[in-house]
Amino acid sequence: MIALSRRQFICGSAAVAALATTPAIAASGIKNLPGGKTEVSLAANKALAKVGGVVELSIKKYGKVAVIRTSSSTKGFAVVNLACPHAGVIVQQNNGGWVCPGPRGHGSEFGLNGAVKVGPANSALKPIKFTATSKAVTIA
Ligand code: FES
Repeated sequence: MIALSRRQFICGSAAVAALATTPAIAASGIKNLPGGKTEVSLAANKALAKVGGVVELSIKKYGKVAVIRTSSSTKGFAVVNLACPHAGVIVQQNNGGWVCPGPRGHGSEFGLNGAVKVGPANSALKPIKFTATSKAVTIA
């Protein structure tokens, strides 16, 4: 058995707590396709297997986006731009949706699929076109 000092224990506990409060999952299995499309493999992103699962990725032509599983059907996804429509601050996952964080953001809240719930933003997170199969979500 390994003996931990009090300091090592406290530092390790803080690291676990930090992970538990950071829900965003970076996408893996990303492939850039001809024509500027981006393919997100479902096999490599297990979070997308269940409704409510989310992965985030950055795409050159859009910036930071999220792929969201919205239903169990093959085409049951949404892809949204994570730039807040109010003034462009990147939103963060919060309580099953998205919030525009301070100090630069102004607290707008959005549903998981991007619908605006609380202003000052007056429109949804911008949807991005995609196609979906049983193997991948391809962002246009
Ligand atoms: S930039 Fe998001 S609420 Fe203002």
